[in-house]
Parts: sequence; C-alpha cells; structure tokens
Amino acid sequence: MIRELPWRSIRELCQEACLFTIGSACDELSKQRPLRLAIEVGSWHGCSTLVLAQYFPRIICVDLWGDLLDGASLPEKAGRAESFDQFLTNMQKNDLYDKVVFPIVSTSEVLNVFKDSLEADMVFIDACHYLDPVRLDIQNAKRHVAKDGLFAFHDYHHEQVKQAVDELIATGEFKVHSQGGWTIILNRA
Ligand SMILES: C[S@@+](CC[C@H](N)C(=O)[O-])C[C@H]1O[C@@H](n2cnc3c(N)ncnc32)[C@H](O)[C@@H]1O
Repeated sequence: MIRELPWRSIRELCQEACLFTIGSACDELSKQRPLRLAIEVGSWHGCSTLVLAQYFPRIICVDLWGDLLDGASLPEKAGRAESFDQFLTNMQKNDLYDKVVFPIVSTSEVLNVFKDSLEADMVFIDACHYLDPVRLDIQNAKRHVAKDGLFAFHDYHHEQVKQAVDELIATGEFKVHSQGGWTIILNRA
C-alpha cells in the first residue's frame, strides 16, 4: 500500500521556504524566456519535481530510488524503495508522465552519457549530501547548465554540501544568484 503525501498540495509545497526559493527563481526566469528543460539530481518522492513542473515542459529526474544508506541510494535496490512508488503516484496524480523522464540510475553515471551539454535552464542538486558525492554531482552536472541557466542546491545548511558548493563558487565559474530556506541558487559568473 503506497503511503500518500497528504501533507502538502503543490500550492503548499511552493510556499515552503526551500521550494519557494526554487519556484521564485523559475518564475523570474520564465518571464525572461520560454523555459525548456530542468534536470533534477535526486527526486525521492517528487516534491521538488512538482514545483519544477509548474514551470518546465520537460524535467529529467535522476534517482536510483534504492533504499538509502548513509545518504546514498543503493544500486542493488534500484527502483525498489517505497519512495519510487510515491514518486510514480505523485507524477500520475498530477498528470506529469509526459513531462518527466526518470532514468533509474546513479547520479554519477547518467549525466556523463550525453556528449554535449543539455543546456538546462535549471539543474537542481539534491541527492547524497556527503562531500565527495556532492563534488561529483557538481562535476558531472555543471556542464549541463545553460549559459544563462541556474544551478540550484538544496540543503546548503548541511556542512558538506556547503563546502562543495563554496568550492564551486571559489573557482569563479558560478556566483550566488539567490538564497532562501536551505536552498542556494547560482548562476554563471
Ligand atoms: C533528499 S532526497 C531528494 C528530495 C527531493 N529533491 C525533494 O525535494 O523532494 C535525495 C534523493 O537522492 C537519491 N540519491 C542519493 N544518492 C544517489 C545516487 N548516488 N544516485 C542516484 N540517486 C541518489 C536518493 O535515492 C533520494 O531519493
């Protein structure tokens, strides 16, 4: 039996501080140009997917949906965590099957299969929160951020996420665009 998420409607989700920050940035971007693609690295139940879906015609959701061990999703349990059923339910209930593409793969693999940049308007990182995995996600994902796109991170209050994001900012490639709740959003410097 799938546990539903009765706790928040999309409207309520958009008001939650971290997701409000994402929604506001997407809203601002959508007023500047038509949005094409978002990449979400770590989707879990699909709460942030629902917010992105308010703005994007296409979202690539990368997750293993395996049970979590120390914040990492287990490859051997890929697609078998309860979170995957919940993700599917949320996508179905909100008619999002024609908007979302959801490869059940490790974040470290999928973004490397594309030779060229996917030029995403937004890449949102929210997978494993340990230092090396976040560094790796940044390394693999950053080339897919469009020239005038946004690179967003959840859980910036988390020490290791903060360190990895701060290292990226220190390279001078990206600078802070906005921040709210536990979300930080960067754009190209
Ligand atoms: C914090 S949750 C994502 C929450 C979601 N963005 C939201 O706001 O609703 C983190 C997700 O990252 C996934 N994850 C962690 N490590 C991963 C890895 N190496 N490859 C793929 N997915 C991974 C987990 O399966 C989990 O569903």
